[in-house]
Amino acid sequence: MKTIAIVPGALALAIAQLLSTPAHAQEVAQADQNTTTELPKVEVRERRPQDDLMSLMLRAEHEGDRLTHDEVVANCVLLLFAGHETTTNLLGNGLFHLLRHPAQATLLRAHLHGAVEELLRYDGPVPATVKIATEDVAWHGRTIRRGDMVMPFMASANRDPRQFPDPDTLDVRRAPERHVAFAAGMHFCLGAWLARLEARIVLDAVFRRLPELSLAPAEPRWKPMIFLRGLESLPIAWTRIERSDA
Ligand code: HEM
Repeated sequence: MKTIAIVPGALALAIAQLLSTPAHAQEVAQADQNTTTELPKVEVRERRPQDDLMSLMLRAEHEGDRLTHDEVVANCVLLLFAGHETTTNLLGNGLFHLLRHPAQATLLRAHLHGAVEELLRYDGPVPATVKIATEDVAWHGRTIRRGDMVMPFMASANRDPRQFPDPDTLDVRRAPERHVAFAAGMHFCLGAWLARLEARIVLDAVFRRLPELSLAPAEPRWKPMIFLRGLESLPIAWTRIERSDA
C-alpha cells in the first residue's frame, strides 16, 4: 500500500496554488517555513489513537470495509481546505455587505438565521464548481455527454428571479431556504451547518461589540479567483468609545 505522509509545506503550497492567487500561494509557503506546527501524521494516530477526527476515521468500519491510509489522508486534506477559506470568505463577504447596507445590519440580531442564509445567497464564497458527467444527460434540449465537463454557477442560480423576487437586493428578512450556495444533491457541503453556526456567532458578536463599525473610504480588494469569492482586504473604521469604568 502506498502511504502519504502529510507534509504541510508542500501540500499547503500545492493546494494554495490551485485555489489561490500566486501572491497568496507565496504567502502560504512563507508562513509555512516559519511555522513549527505539524499536522499529525496518520502513522502516529494509527499507533496511538486519540480523541480526534483522524483516529475516528482510522477506526471507522462499514460492513467490514474500512478507509485506506490514503483515503484517511485525502479526507483530512479535503476537510481542512474545504472548511477553512470558504468560511473565512463568508465572514468577510458578509461583513462587507452588511456594512454597505447599514439598515440591513440593524436587522441582523432579529433575523440572524435568515441573514446568514441571505448572505450565502447574495454573495456566497463558492460561486461555481466543476463536475464531469458520468453518463449522457438530456438537459434543456441539449445532451451533456458522458465525460463532458460541466461548470454549474451557483452564484447565478442564487440570483434567479424565478426563485428570488428582486434577487439583486440584499434582504435579511427573506430567509431564502432554496439557495444553492452549498451545492445540492449527493455532494451537498458536509460542513454547511458548521459554517452557518460560525457565521451567526461571529457576525452577531462583531455588530454587537463594534456597533460603530463602518467602511473606510478606501476600496476593498477582491481575490482574483473564479471558484472562490472572497476579499483580500477590507478597509474598515470604528470609533473607540472610552468606557467610564476603564
Ligand atoms: C460558507 C462556507 C462553505 C461553503 C459556501 C461551502 C460550499 C461547498 C460546496 C458548494 C460544496 C460542493 C462542491 C462540489 O460538489 O463541487 C461543498 C462540499 C464540501 N464541503 Fe463545503 N462549504 C463551506 C464550508 C465547509 C466547511 C466548514 C467544511 C468542513 C469543516 C466543508 C466541507 C466540505 C466537504 C467535505 C465537501 C465535499 C462533500 C462531498 O463531496 O460529499 N465545507 N462545500
